[in-house]
Amino acid sequence: APIAPFRNEAFLDFTLADVKRGMQEALRYVESQLGHEYPLIIGGNRVHAPGKIRSTNPARPAQLVGVHPEAEVEHVEQAVQAAAKAFESWKAVPVGERAALLTRTAELLRERKLEFCAWLTFEVGKNYAEADADVAECIDFLEFYAREALRLDRAETPIQFPGERNQLRYLPLGVGAVIAPWNFPLAILCGMTVAAVVTGNTVVMKPSIDAPTIAVRLLMLLEEAGMPEGVVNLLQGSGELAGRTLVEHPQVRFISFTGSKKVGLDVHERAAKQRPGQKFLKRTVLELGGKDAIIVDNDCDIDAAVEGVVASAFGFNGQKCSACSRAIVDTHIYDVFLDKLTERVSQIRQGDPADNFAMGPVISETSYRRVLDYIAIGRGEGRVLTGGGPAESETNGWYVQPTVIADVAPDARIAQEEIFGPVLAVIRSSSFPEAIEIVNNTDYGLTGAIYSNNRERLEVATEQFHVGNLYLNRKCTGAMVGAHPFGGFNLSGTDSKAGGPDYLLLFTQAKSIAEKL
Ligand code: NAD
Ligand code: ALA
Repeated sequence: APIAPFRNEAFLDFTLADVKRGMQEALRYVESQLGHEYPLIIGGNRVHAPGKIRSTNPARPAQLVGVHPEAEVEHVEQAVQAAAKAFESWKAVPVGERAALLTRTAELLRERKLEFCAWLTFEVGKNYAEADADVAECIDFLEFYAREALRLDRAETPIQFPGERNQLRYLPLGVGAVIAPWNFPLAILCGMTVAAVVTGNTVVMKPSIDAPTIAVRLLMLLEEAGMPEGVVNLLQGSGELAGRTLVEHPQVRFISFTGSKKVGLDVHERAAKQRPGQKFLKRTVLELGGKDAIIVDNDCDIDAAVEGVVASAFGFNGQKCSACSRAIVDTHIYDVFLDKLTERVSQIRQGDPADNFAMGPVISETSYRRVLDYIAIGRGEGRVLTGGGPAESETNGWYVQPTVIADVAPDARIAQEEIFGPVLAVIRSSSFPEAIEIVNNTDYGLTGAIYSNNRERLEVATEQFHVGNLYLNRKCTGAMVGAHPFGGFNLSGTDSKAGGPDYLLLFTQAKSIAEKL
Protein backbone atom coordinates (compact mmCIF):
# COMPACT_ATOMS: atom_id res chain seq x y z
CA ALA A 1 0.00 0.00 0.00
CA PRO A 2 1.33 3.53 -0.66
CA ILE A 3 2.70 5.21 2.44
CA ALA A 4 0.60 8.11 3.83
CA PRO A 5 2.08 11.63 3.65
CA PHE A 6 4.27 12.61 6.60
CA ARG A 7 2.63 14.40 9.52
CA ASN A 8 4.26 15.49 12.77
CA GLU A 9 3.38 13.37 15.77
CA ALA A 10 0.89 15.26 17.95
CA PHE A 11 2.03 16.32 21.42
CA LEU A 12 0.23 14.92 24.44
CA ASP A 13 -1.90 17.19 26.61
CA PHE A 14 -0.88 16.50 30.19
CA THR A 15 -3.61 18.77 31.55
CA LEU A 16 -6.05 15.97 30.64
CA ALA A 17 -6.59 13.80 33.71
CA ASP A 18 -6.24 10.46 31.93
CA VAL A 19 -3.03 11.48 30.11
CA LYS A 20 -1.49 12.72 33.36
CA ARG A 21 -2.57 9.53 35.13
CA GLY A 22 -1.03 7.49 32.29
CA MET A 23 2.27 9.30 32.74
CA GLN A 24 2.22 8.74 36.50
CA GLU A 25 1.58 5.02 35.97
CA ALA A 26 4.44 4.89 33.46
CA LEU A 27 6.72 6.60 35.99
CA ARG A 28 5.78 4.04 38.64
CA TYR A 29 6.39 1.18 36.21
CA VAL A 30 9.77 2.53 35.05
CA GLU A 31 10.77 3.23 38.66
CA SER A 32 10.27 -0.48 39.33
CA GLN A 33 12.69 -1.20 36.45
CA LEU A 34 15.50 1.08 37.60
CA GLY A 35 18.98 -0.12 38.48
CA HIS A 36 19.20 -3.08 36.08
CA GLU A 37 22.45 -4.08 34.46
CA TYR A 38 22.57 -3.94 30.65
CA PRO A 39 25.02 -5.30 28.06
CA LEU A 40 26.82 -3.87 25.04
CA ILE A 41 25.12 -5.14 21.86
CA ILE A 42 27.53 -6.24 19.14
CA GLY A 43 26.27 -8.19 16.12
CA GLY A 44 23.16 -8.99 18.15
CA ASN A 45 25.27 -10.56 20.94
CA ARG A 46 25.01 -9.40 24.53
CA VAL A 47 28.54 -8.52 25.61
CA HIS A 48 29.83 -7.63 29.06
CA ALA A 49 32.96 -5.80 30.20
CA PRO A 50 34.60 -5.34 33.59
CA GLY A 51 34.38 -1.51 33.69
CA LYS A 52 30.97 -0.10 34.66
CA ILE A 53 29.09 3.11 33.90
CA ARG A 54 26.53 3.93 36.55
CA SER A 55 23.75 6.15 35.24
CA THR A 56 21.91 8.07 37.96
CA ASN A 57 18.86 10.32 38.21
CA PRO A 58 20.01 13.98 38.16
CA ALA A 59 17.09 14.92 40.41
CA ARG A 60 18.17 12.39 43.06
CA PRO A 61 21.71 11.20 42.35
CA ALA A 62 21.42 8.36 44.86
CA GLN A 63 18.90 6.68 42.55
CA LEU A 64 20.55 4.34 40.05
CA VAL A 65 18.87 4.28 36.63
CA GLY A 66 21.03 1.63 34.95
CA VAL A 67 24.45 0.00 35.00
CA HIS A 68 26.31 -0.41 31.71
CA PRO A 69 29.58 -2.01 30.62
CA GLU A 70 32.32 0.35 29.59
CA ALA A 71 33.58 -0.63 26.14
CA GLU A 72 37.28 -1.20 25.60
CA VAL A 73 39.32 -1.03 22.40
CA GLU A 74 38.62 -4.71 21.63
CA HIS A 75 34.85 -4.02 21.74
CA VAL A 76 35.23 -1.16 19.29
CA GLU A 77 37.01 -3.55 16.95
CA GLN A 78 34.31 -6.22 17.37
CA ALA A 79 31.53 -3.69 16.79
CA VAL A 80 33.12 -2.31 13.61
CA GLN A 81 33.64 -5.87 12.29
CA ALA A 82 30.02 -6.78 13.12
CA ALA A 83 28.80 -3.66 11.30
CA ALA A 84 31.09 -4.37 8.32
CA LYS A 85 29.75 -7.93 8.07
CA ALA A 86 26.12 -6.80 8.31
CA PHE A 87 26.75 -4.13 5.65
CA GLU A 88 27.35 -6.80 3.02
CA SER A 89 23.74 -7.98 3.23
CA TRP A 90 21.98 -4.84 4.53
CA LYS A 91 23.12 -2.71 1.57
CA ALA A 92 21.28 -5.10 -0.76
CA VAL A 93 18.00 -5.13 1.20
CA PRO A 94 15.31 -3.31 -0.84
CA VAL A 95 14.69 0.22 0.36
CA GLY A 96 11.02 -0.59 0.99
CA GLU A 97 12.05 -3.16 3.60
CA ARG A 98 14.51 -0.78 5.22
CA ALA A 99 11.88 1.95 5.38
CA ALA A 100 9.37 -0.52 6.86
CA LEU A 101 11.80 -1.21 9.72
CA LEU A 102 11.60 2.49 10.59
CA THR A 103 7.81 2.77 10.41
CA ARG A 104 7.43 -0.41 12.52
CA THR A 105 9.79 1.08 15.12
CA ALA A 106 7.72 4.28 15.11
CA GLU A 107 4.58 2.23 15.68
CA LEU A 108 6.12 0.39 18.65
CA LEU A 109 7.34 3.67 20.10
CA ARG A 110 3.88 5.21 19.79
CA GLU A 111 2.46 2.27 21.75
CA ARG A 112 5.06 2.80 24.50
CA LYS A 113 5.29 6.54 24.37
CA LEU A 114 4.71 7.20 28.07
CA GLU A 115 7.11 4.48 29.12
CA PHE A 116 9.88 6.09 27.03
CA CYS A 117 8.91 9.50 28.43
CA ALA A 118 9.36 8.12 31.92
CA TRP A 119 12.85 6.78 31.09
CA LEU A 120 13.75 10.29 29.89
CA THR A 121 12.45 11.75 33.15
CA PHE A 122 14.55 9.43 35.28
CA GLU A 123 17.73 9.40 33.23
CA VAL A 124 18.12 13.03 32.09
CA GLY A 125 15.54 14.97 34.13
CA LYS A 126 12.93 15.91 31.50
CA ASN A 127 9.51 16.99 32.68
CA TYR A 128 6.42 15.54 30.98
CA ALA A 129 6.19 17.95 28.04
CA GLU A 130 9.95 17.97 27.39
CA ALA A 131 10.05 14.17 27.48
CA ASP A 132 7.03 13.95 25.18
CA ALA A 133 8.69 16.36 22.72
CA ASP A 134 11.81 14.15 22.61
CA VAL A 135 9.75 11.00 21.96
CA ALA A 136 7.54 12.76 19.38
CA GLU A 137 10.62 14.03 17.53
CA CYS A 138 12.03 10.52 17.55
CA ILE A 139 8.82 9.18 15.97
CA ASP A 140 8.96 12.02 13.44
CA PHE A 141 12.53 11.17 12.42
CA LEU A 142 11.55 7.51 11.93
CA GLU A 143 8.51 8.36 9.82
CA PHE A 144 10.17 11.19 7.90
CA TYR A 145 13.38 9.37 6.96
CA ALA A 146 11.40 6.29 5.90
CA ARG A 147 9.59 8.45 3.35
CA GLU A 148 12.72 10.33 2.34
CA ALA A 149 14.52 7.06 1.58
CA LEU A 150 11.69 6.00 -0.72
CA ARG A 151 11.86 9.39 -2.44
CA LEU A 152 15.63 9.20 -2.88
CA ASP A 153 15.27 5.77 -4.43
CA ARG A 154 13.18 7.33 -7.21
CA ALA A 155 15.87 9.93 -8.05
CA GLU A 156 16.57 10.65 -11.71
CA THR A 157 19.17 12.71 -13.55
CA PRO A 158 17.87 16.23 -14.35
CA ILE A 159 17.99 15.42 -18.09
CA GLN A 160 18.42 12.41 -20.37
CA PHE A 161 21.34 12.88 -22.77
CA PRO A 162 20.28 12.21 -26.35
CA GLY A 163 21.19 8.66 -27.40
CA GLU A 164 21.71 7.44 -23.81
CA ARG A 165 19.80 6.08 -20.87
CA ASN A 166 20.97 8.00 -17.74
CA GLN A 167 20.50 6.84 -14.18
CA LEU A 168 21.44 8.23 -10.77
CA ARG A 169 21.61 5.89 -7.80
CA TYR A 170 22.31 6.82 -4.21
CA LEU A 171 24.45 4.12 -2.65
CA PRO A 172 25.28 3.73 1.04
CA LEU A 173 28.74 4.64 2.30
CA GLY A 174 29.51 1.68 4.58
CA VAL A 175 30.11 1.53 8.33
CA GLY A 176 29.32 4.70 10.27
CA ALA A 177 29.97 5.89 13.80
CA VAL A 178 27.03 7.63 15.47
CA ILE A 179 28.26 9.69 18.42
CA ALA A 180 25.48 11.38 20.35
CA PRO A 181 24.90 13.90 23.15
CA TRP A 182 22.75 13.32 26.21
CA ASN A 183 20.28 16.22 25.87
CA PHE A 184 17.97 14.66 23.25
CA PRO A 185 19.11 11.15 24.07
CA LEU A 186 16.30 9.48 22.17
CA ALA A 187 15.47 11.78 19.23
CA ILE A 188 19.01 12.75 18.20
CA LEU A 189 20.53 9.30 18.74
CA CYS A 190 17.68 7.67 16.84
CA GLY A 191 17.59 10.28 14.06
CA MET A 192 21.31 10.01 13.33
CA THR A 193 21.16 6.20 13.47
CA VAL A 194 18.12 5.54 11.32
CA ALA A 195 19.02 8.12 8.66
CA ALA A 196 22.20 6.11 8.10
CA VAL A 197 20.48 2.73 8.32
CA VAL A 198 17.55 3.47 6.00
CA THR A 199 20.00 4.48 3.26
CA GLY A 200 21.72 1.08 3.59
CA ASN A 201 24.61 1.81 5.94
CA THR A 202 25.35 -0.04 9.17
CA VAL A 203 26.45 1.75 12.31
CA VAL A 204 28.11 1.63 15.68
CA MET A 205 26.30 3.85 18.16
CA LYS A 206 28.26 5.56 20.92
CA PRO A 207 25.75 7.36 23.15
CA SER A 208 26.68 9.76 25.92
CA ILE A 209 27.71 8.26 29.27
CA ASP A 210 25.02 10.49 30.76
CA ALA A 211 22.20 8.71 28.88
CA PRO A 212 23.16 5.08 28.29
CA THR A 213 19.89 3.47 29.38
CA ILE A 214 17.73 5.31 26.83
CA ALA A 215 20.19 4.15 24.15
CA VAL A 216 19.97 0.45 25.00
CA ARG A 217 16.16 0.73 25.19
CA LEU A 218 16.17 2.26 21.70
CA LEU A 219 18.32 -0.53 20.31
CA MET A 220 16.05 -3.16 21.89
CA LEU A 221 13.09 -1.46 20.20
CA LEU A 222 14.82 -1.59 16.80
CA GLU A 223 15.49 -5.28 17.38
CA GLU A 224 11.86 -5.86 18.26
CA ALA A 225 10.86 -4.14 15.02
CA GLY A 226 12.94 -6.72 13.13
CA MET A 227 16.32 -5.08 12.64
CA PRO A 228 18.87 -7.73 11.55
CA GLU A 229 21.88 -8.41 13.79
CA GLY A 230 24.85 -6.11 13.32
CA VAL A 231 22.99 -3.34 11.48
CA VAL A 232 23.12 -1.21 14.63
CA ASN A 233 25.68 -2.02 17.31
CA LEU A 234 25.91 -0.39 20.71
CA LEU A 235 29.06 0.64 22.52
CA GLN A 236 28.75 2.40 25.84
CA GLY A 237 31.82 4.22 26.99
CA SER A 238 33.84 7.34 27.21
CA GLY A 239 34.38 9.73 24.36
CA GLU A 240 38.12 9.63 24.90
CA LEU A 241 38.35 5.86 24.46
CA ALA A 242 35.34 4.41 22.62
CA GLY A 243 34.51 7.61 20.73
CA ARG A 244 38.02 8.42 19.64
CA THR A 245 38.89 4.82 18.68
CA LEU A 246 35.79 4.70 16.50
CA VAL A 247 36.58 8.02 14.84
CA GLU A 248 40.09 6.84 14.00
CA HIS A 249 39.12 3.33 12.89
CA PRO A 250 40.25 2.75 9.27
CA GLN A 251 37.01 0.96 8.37
CA VAL A 252 34.70 3.70 9.69
CA ARG A 253 33.61 5.50 6.53
CA PHE A 254 31.62 8.31 8.14
CA ILE A 255 31.01 9.91 11.52
CA SER A 256 27.66 11.39 12.42
CA PHE A 257 28.33 13.48 15.50
CA THR A 258 26.19 15.80 17.59
CA GLY A 259 27.78 17.44 20.61
CA SER A 260 30.00 20.28 21.70
CA LYS A 261 32.17 22.49 19.50
CA LYS A 262 35.32 21.35 21.28
CA VAL A 263 34.73 17.65 20.67
CA GLY A 264 33.35 18.27 17.17
CA LEU A 265 36.57 20.00 16.17
CA ASP A 266 38.58 17.10 17.55
CA VAL A 267 36.46 14.61 15.57
CA HIS A 268 36.87 16.73 12.43
CA GLU A 269 40.65 16.81 12.78
CA ARG A 270 41.11 13.12 13.58
CA ALA A 271 38.76 12.04 10.83
CA ALA A 272 40.78 14.03 8.29
CA LYS A 273 43.87 11.88 8.78
CA GLN A 274 44.31 8.80 6.63
CA ARG A 275 45.07 5.67 8.71
CA PRO A 276 46.89 2.53 7.53
CA GLY A 277 44.44 0.45 5.47
CA GLN A 278 41.99 3.32 4.99
CA LYS A 279 40.89 3.70 1.38
CA PHE A 280 38.52 6.65 1.53
CA LEU A 281 38.09 10.19 2.80
CA LYS A 282 35.99 9.95 5.94
CA ARG A 283 32.86 12.00 5.84
CA THR A 284 31.90 13.95 8.95
CA VAL A 285 28.47 15.28 9.75
CA LEU A 286 28.98 17.54 12.76
CA GLU A 287 26.22 19.36 14.62
CA LEU A 288 27.64 21.42 17.46
CA GLY A 289 26.83 24.06 20.04
CA GLY A 290 25.22 27.46 19.94
CA LYS A 291 25.15 30.87 21.57
CA ASP A 292 21.68 31.62 20.36
CA ALA A 293 20.14 35.07 20.58
CA ILE A 294 16.71 36.65 20.52
CA ILE A 295 16.36 40.26 19.36
CA VAL A 296 13.64 42.20 21.19
CA ASP A 297 12.84 45.18 19.00
CA ASN A 298 11.37 48.43 20.42
CA ASP A 299 8.25 47.85 18.29
CA CYS A 300 7.07 44.43 19.44
CA ASP A 301 4.59 42.61 21.66
CA ILE A 302 6.71 42.73 24.83
CA ASP A 303 4.67 40.10 26.67
CA ALA A 304 5.04 37.67 23.79
CA ALA A 305 8.78 38.41 23.70
CA VAL A 306 9.09 37.72 27.44
CA GLU A 307 7.27 34.38 27.03
CA GLY A 308 9.43 33.44 24.04
CA VAL A 309 12.68 34.33 25.77
CA VAL A 310 11.72 32.48 28.96
CA ALA A 311 10.63 29.33 27.09
CA SER A 312 13.80 29.38 24.97
CA ALA A 313 16.20 30.17 27.81
CA PHE A 314 14.82 27.94 30.55
CA GLY A 315 12.98 25.09 28.77
CA PHE A 316 14.78 21.89 29.88
CA ASN A 317 16.94 24.17 32.03
CA GLY A 318 18.65 25.80 29.05
CA GLN A 319 20.21 22.49 28.04
CA LYS A 320 19.39 22.71 24.34
CA CYS A 321 21.77 23.63 21.54
CA SER A 322 18.90 25.86 20.39
CA ALA A 323 18.44 27.56 23.79
CA CYS A 324 18.37 31.36 23.98
CA SER A 325 21.40 32.38 26.01
CA ARG A 326 21.46 36.03 24.86
CA ALA A 327 18.55 38.48 24.74
CA ILE A 328 19.41 41.62 22.76
CA VAL A 329 16.95 44.23 23.92
CA ASP A 330 16.38 47.68 22.43
CA THR A 331 17.26 50.53 24.80
CA HIS A 332 13.80 52.16 24.49
CA ILE A 333 12.06 49.15 26.08
CA TYR A 334 15.01 47.75 28.04
CA ASP A 335 13.77 48.55 31.55
CA VAL A 336 10.15 47.55 30.88
CA PHE A 337 11.29 44.30 29.32
CA LEU A 338 13.61 43.51 32.26
CA ASP A 339 10.86 44.20 34.81
CA LYS A 340 8.46 41.87 33.06
CA LEU A 341 11.17 39.27 32.49
CA THR A 342 12.24 39.27 36.15
CA GLU A 343 8.64 38.95 37.27
CA ARG A 344 8.01 36.04 34.86
CA VAL A 345 11.22 34.17 35.76
CA SER A 346 10.46 34.49 39.47
CA GLN A 347 7.23 32.54 38.84
CA ILE A 348 9.07 29.51 37.42
CA ARG A 349 8.61 26.56 39.73
CA GLN A 350 11.58 24.26 40.08
CA GLY A 351 11.58 20.71 41.36
CA ASP A 352 11.56 17.00 40.51
CA PRO A 353 10.68 16.44 36.83
CA ALA A 354 8.80 13.30 37.92
CA ASP A 355 6.36 15.72 39.59
CA ASN A 356 6.29 17.77 36.36
CA PHE A 357 7.90 20.98 37.60
CA ALA A 358 8.59 23.57 34.90
CA MET A 359 12.32 23.41 35.64
CA GLY A 360 14.38 20.54 37.00
CA PRO A 361 18.05 19.76 37.63
CA VAL A 362 20.95 20.05 35.21
CA ILE A 363 22.33 16.75 33.96
CA SER A 364 25.27 16.05 36.27
CA GLU A 365 27.61 17.29 38.94
CA THR A 366 30.12 18.31 36.26
CA SER A 367 27.50 20.36 34.52
CA TYR A 368 26.26 21.85 37.83
CA ARG A 369 29.77 23.03 38.68
CA ARG A 370 30.39 24.41 35.19
CA VAL A 371 27.13 26.40 35.22
CA LEU A 372 27.84 27.79 38.71
CA ASP A 373 31.35 28.78 37.59
CA TYR A 374 29.84 30.69 34.68
CA ILE A 375 27.41 32.43 37.02
CA ALA A 376 30.38 33.51 39.14
CA ILE A 377 32.05 34.89 36.00
CA GLY A 378 28.74 36.58 35.08
CA ARG A 379 28.64 38.40 38.42
CA GLY A 380 31.71 40.28 37.30
CA GLU A 381 30.31 40.89 33.82
CA GLY A 382 26.80 42.15 34.58
CA ARG A 383 23.99 42.61 37.08
CA VAL A 384 22.29 39.46 38.41
CA LEU A 385 18.54 40.09 38.28
CA THR A 386 17.20 36.71 39.38
CA GLY A 387 18.67 33.42 40.50
CA GLY A 388 22.44 33.36 40.68
CA GLY A 389 23.14 30.13 42.55
CA PRO A 390 22.19 26.58 43.37
CA ALA A 391 18.57 25.79 44.26
CA GLU A 392 17.75 23.89 47.44
CA SER A 393 17.19 20.17 47.03
CA GLU A 394 16.33 17.63 49.72
CA THR A 395 17.44 14.89 47.38
CA ASN A 396 20.80 16.54 46.53
CA GLY A 397 19.73 16.96 42.89
CA TRP A 398 21.80 19.12 40.53
CA TYR A 399 19.52 22.15 40.67
CA VAL A 400 20.63 25.59 39.50
CA GLN A 401 18.23 28.54 39.76
CA PRO A 402 17.05 30.18 36.55
CA THR A 403 19.46 33.07 36.30
CA VAL A 404 19.18 36.34 34.38
CA ILE A 405 22.20 38.61 34.15
CA ALA A 406 21.60 42.06 32.63
CA ASP A 407 23.88 44.82 31.28
CA VAL A 408 26.25 42.31 29.75
CA ALA A 409 28.70 43.50 27.10
CA PRO A 410 28.45 41.74 23.72
CA ASP A 411 31.99 40.39 24.00
CA ALA A 412 31.77 39.27 27.66
CA ARG A 413 32.54 35.61 28.28
CA ILE A 414 28.95 34.82 29.27
CA ALA A 415 27.87 36.42 25.98
CA GLN A 416 30.31 34.37 23.91
CA GLU A 417 30.78 30.92 25.50
CA GLU A 418 28.14 28.20 25.49
CA ILE A 419 27.07 27.63 29.11
CA PHE A 420 24.45 24.93 28.44
CA GLY A 421 22.43 25.67 31.55
CA PRO A 422 19.74 28.05 32.85
CA VAL A 423 21.67 31.29 32.43
CA LEU A 424 20.50 34.17 30.24
CA ALA A 425 22.67 37.19 29.41
CA VAL A 426 20.75 40.36 28.53
CA ILE A 427 22.52 42.85 26.27
CA ARG A 428 21.30 46.39 25.56
CA SER A 429 21.25 47.57 21.94
CA SER A 430 20.93 51.22 20.97
CA SER A 431 19.52 50.56 17.48
CA PHE A 432 18.27 47.75 15.28
CA PRO A 433 21.45 47.64 13.10
CA GLU A 434 23.47 47.35 16.30
CA ALA A 435 21.27 44.46 17.46
CA ILE A 436 22.00 42.62 14.20
CA GLU A 437 25.70 43.27 14.68
CA ILE A 438 25.58 41.89 18.22
CA VAL A 439 23.71 38.70 17.33
CA ASN A 440 26.20 37.90 14.58
CA ASN A 441 29.20 38.63 16.79
CA THR A 442 29.83 35.01 17.87
CA ASP A 443 31.66 31.90 16.66
CA TYR A 444 28.33 30.12 16.41
CA GLY A 445 25.24 30.40 14.19
CA LEU A 446 22.65 27.83 15.16
CA THR A 447 19.27 29.35 16.05
CA GLY A 448 17.96 32.86 16.57
CA ALA A 449 14.72 34.77 16.83
CA ILE A 450 13.41 38.30 16.55
CA TYR A 451 10.30 39.82 18.10
CA SER A 452 9.16 42.83 16.03
CA ASN A 453 6.01 44.28 14.48
CA ASN A 454 8.10 46.07 11.87
CA ARG A 455 7.97 44.22 8.53
CA GLU A 456 11.09 45.90 7.20
CA ARG A 457 13.13 44.85 10.22
CA LEU A 458 11.84 41.29 9.97
CA GLU A 459 13.03 41.30 6.38
CA VAL A 460 16.44 42.70 7.27
CA ALA A 461 16.75 40.02 9.96
CA THR A 462 15.76 37.35 7.42
CA GLU A 463 18.66 38.51 5.25
CA GLN A 464 21.29 39.37 7.82
CA PHE A 465 20.73 37.32 11.02
CA HIS A 466 23.32 34.62 10.26
CA VAL A 467 21.90 31.41 11.72
CA GLY A 468 20.78 28.08 10.34
CA ASN A 469 17.36 28.32 12.03
CA LEU A 470 15.73 31.72 12.26
CA TYR A 471 12.34 32.32 13.88
CA LEU A 472 10.24 35.48 13.52
CA ASN A 473 7.95 36.34 16.45
CA ARG A 474 8.30 32.95 18.15
CA LYS A 475 10.74 31.14 20.42
CA CYS A 476 14.03 29.79 19.06
CA THR A 477 13.66 26.22 20.39
CA GLY A 478 11.36 23.41 19.34
CA ALA A 479 12.20 22.81 15.66
CA MET A 480 9.69 20.48 14.02
CA VAL A 481 10.85 17.70 11.68
CA GLY A 482 9.96 18.52 8.08
CA ALA A 483 8.95 22.12 8.81
CA HIS A 484 12.21 23.39 10.33
CA PRO A 485 15.18 21.42 8.92
CA PHE A 486 17.74 21.80 11.69
CA GLY A 487 21.44 22.67 11.64
CA GLY A 488 23.79 25.58 12.19
CA PHE A 489 26.29 27.89 10.49
CA ASN A 490 29.88 28.74 11.43
CA LEU A 491 31.21 26.70 14.38
CA SER A 492 27.69 25.39 15.09
CA GLY A 493 28.46 22.68 12.58
CA THR A 494 28.19 21.40 9.06
CA ASP A 495 24.59 22.62 8.70
CA SER A 496 23.35 19.12 7.97
CA LYS A 497 19.69 20.05 8.33
CA ALA A 498 18.34 17.06 10.23
CA GLY A 499 14.67 16.51 9.45
CA GLY A 500 15.05 18.18 6.06
CA PRO A 501 15.10 17.11 2.41
CA ASP A 502 18.91 17.12 2.09
CA TYR A 503 19.74 15.07 5.16
CA LEU A 504 19.79 11.52 3.80
CA LEU A 505 22.14 12.52 0.99
CA LEU A 506 24.86 12.90 3.64
CA PHE A 507 24.85 9.13 4.17
CA THR A 508 25.07 8.24 0.50
CA GLN A 509 27.37 8.46 -2.51
CA ALA A 510 25.75 9.02 -5.86
CA LYS A 511 26.57 6.78 -8.81
CA SER A 512 25.86 8.11 -12.28
CA ILE A 513 25.30 5.43 -14.93
CA ALA A 514 25.10 6.14 -18.66
CA GLU A 515 24.17 3.46 -21.20
CA LYS A 516 24.53 4.05 -24.94
CA LEU A 517 21.27 3.24 -26.67
P1 NAD B 1 30.01 16.38 24.18
O1 NAD B 1 30.67 17.01 23.00
O2 NAD B 1 30.66 16.45 25.48
O3 NAD B 1 29.77 14.82 23.88
C1 NAD B 1 29.09 14.37 22.73
C2 NAD B 1 29.48 12.92 22.46
O4 NAD B 1 30.84 12.87 22.06
C3 NAD B 1 29.37 12.01 23.67
O5 NAD B 1 28.86 10.76 23.27
C4 NAD B 1 30.80 11.90 24.14
O6 NAD B 1 31.08 10.72 24.85
C5 NAD B 1 31.54 11.90 22.81
N1 NAD B 1 32.95 12.30 22.89
C6 NAD B 1 33.57 13.06 23.84
N2 NAD B 1 34.88 13.22 23.54
C7 NAD B 1 35.09 12.57 22.36
C8 NAD B 1 36.21 12.41 21.52
N3 NAD B 1 37.39 12.96 21.80
N4 NAD B 1 36.07 11.68 20.37
C9 NAD B 1 34.88 11.17 20.04
N5 NAD B 1 33.77 11.29 20.80
C10 NAD B 1 33.87 11.99 21.94
O7 NAD B 1 28.53 16.99 24.23
P2 NAD B 1 27.35 16.72 25.30
O8 NAD B 1 27.69 17.36 26.59
O9 NAD B 1 26.97 15.28 25.29
O10 NAD B 1 26.14 17.52 24.62
C11 NAD B 1 25.98 18.89 24.72
C12 NAD B 1 26.54 19.60 23.50
O11 NAD B 1 25.89 19.13 22.32
C13 NAD B 1 26.26 21.10 23.54
O12 NAD B 1 27.39 21.78 23.05
C14 NAD B 1 25.08 21.25 22.58
O13 NAD B 1 24.95 22.53 22.03
C15 NAD B 1 25.40 20.22 21.55
N6 NAD B 1 24.21 19.81 20.80
C16 NAD B 1 24.10 20.21 19.49
C17 NAD B 1 22.96 19.89 18.76
C18 NAD B 1 22.80 20.32 17.32
O14 NAD B 1 21.92 19.79 16.63
N7 NAD B 1 23.59 21.25 16.84
C19 NAD B 1 21.93 19.16 19.37
C20 NAD B 1 22.11 18.75 20.71
C21 NAD B 1 23.25 19.08 21.41
N1 ALA C 1 15.84 20.50 17.75
C1 ALA C 1 15.84 21.06 19.06
C2 ALA C 1 15.20 22.42 19.11
O1 ALA C 1 14.92 22.97 18.09
C3 ALA C 1 17.24 21.14 19.58
O2 ALA C 1 15.00 22.91 20.18
